[in-house]
Amino acid sequence: MPTGVSDATGRPPADLAVDVRKLHKSFGSFEALRGLDLEVRRGEVHGFLGPNGAGKSTTIRVLLGLLRANAGEVRLLGGDPWRDVVELHRRLAYVPGDVSLWPSMTGGEMIDLLGSMRGGLDEDRRADLVERFELDTAKRGRQYSKGNRQKVAIVAALASDVELLILDEPTSGLDPLMENVFQEVVGEAKALGTTVLLSSHILAEVESLADRVSIIRDGVIVETGTLTELRGHTRTAVRAELDTVPAADRLTDFHDVDVDGHRLSATVDSDRIGAAMEVLTASGLRSLTVEPPSLESLFLRLYDSDSDGVRVSDNPAAGE
Ligand SMILES: Nc1ncnc2c1ncn2[C@@H]1O[C@H](COP(=O)(O)OP(=O)(O)O)[C@@H](O)[C@H]1O
Ligand SMILES: [Mg+2]
Repeated sequence: MPTGVSDATGRPPADLAVDVRKLHKSFGSFEALRGLDLEVRRGEVHGFLGPNGAGKSTTIRVLLGLLRANAGEVRLLGGDPWRDVVELHRRLAYVPGDVSLWPSMTGGEMIDLLGSMRGGLDEDRRADLVERFELDTAKRGRQYSKGNRQKVAIVAALASDVELLILDEPTSGLDPLMENVFQEVVGEAKALGTTVLLSSHILAEVESLADRVSIIRDGVIVETGTLTELRGHTRTAVRAELDTVPAADRLTDFHDVDVDGHRLSATVDSDRIGAAMEVLTASGLRSLTVEPPSLESLFLRLYDSDSDGVRVSDNPAAGE
């Protein structure tokens, strides 16, 4: 164990399958990663969410030792992804979002080849996965559709006996039925103790599986935590009819404020509901509708790169 590698929370580094700090990566003058921090704990499914172009694949390619970072620290399964590439790749499996196969190799041969790089496949598991994904392993690379190429890589990864699965938008091109099979098999891998980093640009794809999620936007993590914790960061929509709409300086707990005569509509942070209600009652509340916060609305807000109104924990003053 290298000395000097300690964790701010006091957790030993061995508990983290992925430990990324202040990662920077530029392509020419374009900075794709701008001080990204990412922690994936051993045994968890970690959802890595962000819109297209946010930097998910760039981060993953650094983790895989395919790209060299400009600055920052990266530990993967206790090793250095750039230096320990051979050793680490025996202990992990990777599925990219756009699998390419050798045109004349069959799917079955490809699965075996990928498996042999990772120290072998579990044959029963391989057979089970091939059946559940309804994959014809006798076809050649050039004959497979996009979705079937994804299946080849997914079967090879999930049948390998590895500690860590790195899945970068793995289900692109799979139909909804196969997406369900995918969710099931990742759940089974998790139950066996495998750590999973699962990237997606769609919340629903990671929602049921992920123990924790990190949301990336423009090369930095803007939120991280359990889905329950993230729900605490959502806002409640409020519509009220009042005797007198209060002046703006009384409405500091209200966002997205829209006033129309006696009507006020706005959103309120979950932890400010009480204070907001006091303001409304003191203003002669005639009627009130409240819509519960939704994760979907939080994601839309976080994804909207034109919005500076995102309140991230370390930047509470950000806003319009
Ligand atoms: N090899 C490259 N050369 C130049 N720009 C790149 C390269 N790879 C990625 N980028 C840019 O970096 C940003 C992040 O890309 P990427 O990591 O692929 O995002 P995501 O996987 O979240 O969709 C994008 O703006 C993309 O255009
Ligand atoms: Mg990508």
